[in-house]
This record gives sequence, C-alpha cells and structure tokens, in this order.
Amino acid sequence: HAPLKVGLAGLGTVGSGVIRLIEENTALIARRAGREIKIVAITARDRTKDRGVDLSPYRWVDDMAALATIEDIDVVVELVGGSDGPALALARETLSNGRALVTANKAMIAHHGAELAALAESKHTALKFEAAVAGGIPVIQGLRDGAAANRIDRVYGILNGTCNFILSTMERDGLDFAQVLADAQAKGFAEADPSFDIDGIDAAHKLSILASLSFGTVIDFGGVEARGVRKILAADIAQAKTLGYRIRLIGLAEIDGDNGSSTIFQRVQPCLVPLSHPLAHVTGATNAVVAEGNFSGRLLFQGAGAGDKPTASAVVADLVDIARKETGPAFSMPSAELEKLPRAASAHR
Ligand code: NDP
Ligand code: HSE
Repeated sequence: HAPLKVGLAGLGTVGSGVIRLIEENTALIARRAGREIKIVAITARDRTKDRGVDLSPYRWVDDMAALATIEDIDVVVELVGGSDGPALALARETLSNGRALVTANKAMIAHHGAELAALAESKHTALKFEAAVAGGIPVIQGLRDGAAANRIDRVYGILNGTCNFILSTMERDGLDFAQVLADAQAKGFAEADPSFDIDGIDAAHKLSILASLSFGTVIDFGGVEARGVRKILAADIAQAKTLGYRIRLIGLAEIDGDNGSSTIFQRVQPCLVPLSHPLAHVTGATNAVVAEGNFSGRLLFQGAGAGDKPTASAVVADLVDIARKETGPAFSMPSAELEKLPRAASAHR
C-alpha cells in the first residue's frame, strides 16, 4: 500500500512530539495501520528554531495554507492552535479540497466543529480530533464509538491538565499559584495564553465537545458557564482538606428531556470533591472523564491529559484510523441527522 502522506502545521510541544512518535514507532505504526505514515511537509512560524528534533528529512513550507493544496499530501495535521485565524483557514481549505484533517485544537472544534464536520462529510473525507479532549485518553472514540448504543444523560470530569497540576501541586508542596503555573507552562501543559486554562475556558471547550458526543446534540460552546481557579489560595486547599475534600476544576454537562424538547446544562467550576470519590485522587496533569450510559453503566476514562507524548499519541491514533480508512462522522451521527433534531435549549443552574 502507498504511504499515508502527512502535512504537519505547528512544530511546538505537540507537533514535535508527533514527529518523535512517528520516527520512533515507524514500523509498529505501519503494521497496525497497514501502511506507512509519512510526514512529507512541515511548517511553523520560525524555520530556525531548535525544536530538539532533526527536521532535515522533511520539506519545509513557508506558507501554511499551501499544505491544503500540495498535491501529494493526503492528510493535514493542524497543531497551531487558536479558534479562528490561520488554523481555521487551513482546516476549511484542507477539507474543501477533500483532504482529511487531524487537529488537537479544541478551541476551533468548540467554535466551528459543526461546520467543519459537515464540510468533511460533504467531501467524503475525515475530520478527527481525538487529541482535542483529555490528551492521550481515547475518550472521543470511547464516546462516539464505544458507547454509541447508549443513552448518556450526564458526562463530567477533570478536563484541564494545567489546572489539575496547579491544584494538586499547590496542595502537595504548599506552593503558591504563580510558581506552579510557571512550572506547568515549562512542562508544555498550558495553552499559548494560559488564561484559557486558569479561567476555565479550555475546560469549557472540551466540555462542549464531550456534551455533543454524549448527548447526540449540536455542539454548543456558548451555553457553557465557566469559572476557573485563578482565585483559589493555598489556604482554601488546606481548609478543604481539613473538611475531607479536595478542590478540583470539574466540567459537568447534563441533558434533561428527550430530543423532542431538551435542555442542556453545561458548567465548569472549582468543586469540593469528597476524598471518597475517584476524582479526588486524580493528581498532576492527569484528566478523568466519567460518562453514565443507560446500558454500559458508569464509564471512567483516565490518563495523561496534556503534554507532548500523550497528545502526540492521540494525534497519531487518528492518523492510523485514517490510514485504515475509518472516516465515519466526526461527531455522534452524520451532520445532516444532527441538524434535523430540535436544538436543545441551554440552561444554567
Ligand atoms: P505550541 O505553542 O507549543 O506550538 C504551536 C506551533 O504553531 C508552533 O510551532 C508555532 O510556530 C506554530 N504557529 C503558531 N502560529 C503560527 C502561524 N501563524 N503560522 C505558522 N505556524 C504557527 O502549542 P502546542 O503544541 O502546545 O499546542 C498545539 C495545539 O494542540 C493547540 O491547539 C493546543 O490547544 C492543542 N493541545 C495542546 C496540548 C498540550 O499539552 N500542549 C494538549 C492537547 C491539545 P513556532 O514554533 O515557529 O513559533
Ligand atoms: N492546556 C491544556 C491542558 C492542554 O492543560 O489541559 C491539553 O488539552
């Protein structure tokens, strides 16, 4: 079989992780995918930056948009970030040209996922975003495919690695917020603008994606009410501990009613989690997602939620799926079916 040829946009934490993974596991991936996955072109802002990987085997492209049109590219991997701007332009152009798109960009999927999914389906190509939620945990596939036969009315969890790292490290080491945030940034967990993490926006992006997949509804980022961890002090964490709780940033989505008339409630906020609950024991940049299916029962997905290696693992898993030609609908059902359903109302409690 011919190799799957990849154009890679973005060579930061995740992009350079993807190069390392594909180089290290080339033979294993080829066996699993049935053909080689080969990066043929790369781009970022600064060609001269040392990224700790040898970029000489790859063709450098100055104009990111060109990846969507270079003839021998089958799949574009977008690891640039930002809900709009160059990332969105590249995504639209790639899918319009009938090429597959893999992205880790939850901001873009939260804002434009419905449009991009419909575009991908109209062009009979794939849109994949496993890395956009919960880093290395295969939760998108788990909900979209593994739990596809279930009614899910509730999904919740720890969705931001940076905040969980900050809260658990503040507790463990008695450090203050700013010191731990700097450490999370140095480890590559935080977003380019870390206020997305600490103000709960990144978790809100992810929650809206999980809610859409769980409930079979059109994604509704605007309906998420979000509060972050900026104001939490070491003293709050200590006080919670004396009462038998840990503070965790939790995203929770619930749906009331059925498709005829339903209301969705989506909220991200710091919560007091009792020590008896598994989420209280999730530490560091780990994420955990709980979904309750009416036949599967409670599903718990847990693992590394951020960082170069786990995120690269999810990105390359999407490439393997595409290499195997698994290009079904990006969300829980084909976009045309989703659009036919009455929109659920959004509510806050
Ligand atoms: P980085 O900031 O480390 O990397 C971003 C890359 O995009 C850099 O290589 C940068 O170039 C390039 N870039 C930015 N703007 C442009 C532009 N206008 N034209 C060309 N290249 C550009 O981000 P991450 O790798 O951390 O994140 C990438 C994506 O993955 C984001 O959507 C993020 O939300 C998501 N993500 C990140 C995770 C993580 O743990 N870090 C986990 C899950 C998802 P240069 O290097 O030259 O400046
Ligand atoms: N900044 C994000 C986080 C990266 O800390 O969870 C993973 O999506």
